[in-house]
Amino acid sequence: MTESPLASARILGIETSCDETAAAVVEDGRRVVSNVVASQAEMHAKYGGVFPEVASRQHIRTIHTVVEEALAQAHLSLDDVDAIAVTQGPGLPGSLVVGLNFAKGLALGSGKPLIGINHLEGHIYSAWLDPQADEPEPAFPLVALLVSGGHSELILMTGHLTYERLGGTLDDAAGEAFDKVARLLGLAYPGGPAIQAAAEGGNPAAFALPRAWLEGSWDFSFSGLKTAMLHQVRDLKRQSLTPEAAAVIKDWNTVETRLPVADLAASFQQAVAEVLATKARLAAQQHGAREIVVAGGVSANAALRTLVTKDTPGRVHIPALKYCTDNAAMIAAAGYYRYTLGQVAEGALALDARPNWPVG
Ligand code: KG4
Ligand code: ZN
Repeated sequence: MTESPLASARILGIETSCDETAAAVVEDGRRVVSNVVASQAEMHAKYGGVFPEVASRQHIRTIHTVVEEALAQAHLSLDDVDAIAVTQGPGLPGSLVVGLNFAKGLALGSGKPLIGINHLEGHIYSAWLDPQADEPEPAFPLVALLVSGGHSELILMTGHLTYERLGGTLDDAAGEAFDKVARLLGLAYPGGPAIQAAAEGGNPAAFALPRAWLEGSWDFSFSGLKTAMLHQVRDLKRQSLTPEAAAVIKDWNTVETRLPVADLAASFQQAVAEVLATKARLAAQQHGAREIVVAGGVSANAALRTLVTKDTPGRVHIPALKYCTDNAAMIAAAGYYRYTLGQVAEGALALDARPNWPVG
């Protein structure tokens, strides 16, 4: 199935799985009519990560305005949409429930069908959004590399909504590794964009960092790389002190030194991007997939985008930057394909949050 099965359907998408409150209207799974994202990143920055209670409270405050704004920007009312798609999981339980309950209320009040969407499936479908002129839609079979703050997965898709999980991270997700290493380097949350900015002008070969290839499996591991960064930073700090001063240091976090942050960030970013790009390419080759989709927050990373596109013979689909991180247009896009197959919730109230829902 490469052509959209229904001529026209308009889906309202709602997303509150983590720290973005988002709503969007998408037509035919591809054409974004409106896309509103209220980010809480600044509120969480002082905690160095997402604070779940703060997130759910903020979703409650903003969800109504965000959904109204998405409809207003589309010049539509709820009557004009065919169905409502909402993120059902995975994600923070308290955050998921806010979007779900709001969507249930809309569905019950309007009589529109409600569709529960897996957030990871949503990320994958961001590759279908807003195509450039004459850009063909992703063709099956394809391998999806899904790299976000919570997940690093390699998934084989043989058709719409058909997923075979090939592998995933054994420890930290790629985005999580970016966030933790950013903290180590004294950079702000979220760490991915901060590392990318810091890496500009840095030498990606400045530090020899390990790559966990995990040959024979499609899994990933980033904990060794993270530990190597920790040791590298500690060594640099040690070198800035006399041996006598270094000998009495108990907590290296308390030692302030001028670190070569650009080189450290560039070397780390290169190590992550190389492993992700190479394994995605090999997985596609070995599974007879002609195309690759890269999605999730880390797909915004310029080094990864370059590397994965450079050596792949087939087409590589990477969403526009605004669709890489969490948004509701991707939820509406996935919702469109489910809607066309009649996969809607039997009763709106039956849809419960699934905080640990795997894809596939
Ligand atoms: O998909 P997403 O918005 O939320 C989750 O579903 O987790 O991904 C957020 C993650 C964060 O860890 C963030 O640091 C990372 O994506 N990220 C990036 C970049 N932009 C966001 N990582 C590397 N380079 C970027 N430019
Ligand atoms: Zn996400």
